[in-house]
Amino acid sequence: MPFQNILCTNRGAIRTLTVNRPDKLNALNRETIGELQVAFDQAQHDESVRVVVLAGAGEKAFVAGADIAELQSLSPIDAQAFSRAGQCMMRSIELLGKPVVAKIQGFALGGGLELAMCCHLRIGSEKAKLGLPEITLGLLPGFGGTQRLLRLIGRAAALEFCLLGQAVSAQRAEQLGLLNRVVAAEQLDDEVDGLADRLAASAPNALAGILDAVLVGGECSAAEGMDFESKAFALCFSTDDMREGTTAFLEKRKPVFSGK
Ligand code: COA
Repeated sequence: MPFQNILCTNRGAIRTLTVNRPDKLNALNRETIGELQVAFDQAQHDESVRVVVLAGAGEKAFVAGADIAELQSLSPIDAQAFSRAGQCMMRSIELLGKPVVAKIQGFALGGGLELAMCCHLRIGSEKAKLGLPEITLGLLPGFGGTQRLLRLIGRAAALEFCLLGQAVSAQRAEQLGLLNRVVAAEQLDDEVDGLADRLAASAPNALAGILDAVLVGGECSAAEGMDFESKAFALCFSTDDMREGTTAFLEKRKPVFSGK
């Protein structure tokens, strides 16, 4: 299905989805949220895809938030549907079962930071700026941002982000654990490509088990989380890739994972 606001490209097992509304700094309107939902559903069901990179078009912004012009016309009922559609799409990304890397070259604000936070790894250019400015619009984050930020950086810093609405630098975001890595702007593509290559060469069932144990297990009690981990660990013993990985180690060679 052709998208209006998303570009989709493939490089081997790596699919890149790019939000493509650069003249609006890639702001998320309802159409774009719907298209991201479809694009990630497709990536989930396509066995040839092992990793997804999520990016924003142009130099200035990953995504500068929900589309404020569209927000203004929403009734409370529409706003709830908009929030739920965004939450549902972002939860689908979080639970994709394949690693998703956010490539953040510029502004990741409001819904843009919320979108980045549901990805599994966030790599930023030193020019990136991250924040939740909803309070400056008389609003609060509505795509899961209060919850994900709290879990990522802790209560004190999350409250500072939400209550003050001020964006932080990439370096500060890395210190807080919000960005995994910060690199020079001209190195961002290579850094993300290298990371995606590494993930694409890994055993997909083990990657899925890690995502499940950390993301779903991590929302349970410690005992339930341990149970998640054990089951995911045990499931790997049904895969060719586990045999290949352990055999390759013992034979002192590099493993080649088939995904089976
Ligand atoms: N929704 C809708 N349009 C947006 C947008 C958003 N979240 N963010 C930027 N745009 C639009 C601007 O209205 C402008 O459109 P125009 O050229 O038709 O007037 C265009 O994108 C470029 O943005 P502009 O504000 O001119 O760029 P800037 O470099 O001066 O400022 C920002 C960049 C990111 C600081 C500023 O655009 C901004 O504050 N955006 C809103 C961020 C926000 O509050 N997000 C949370 C939304 S809930």
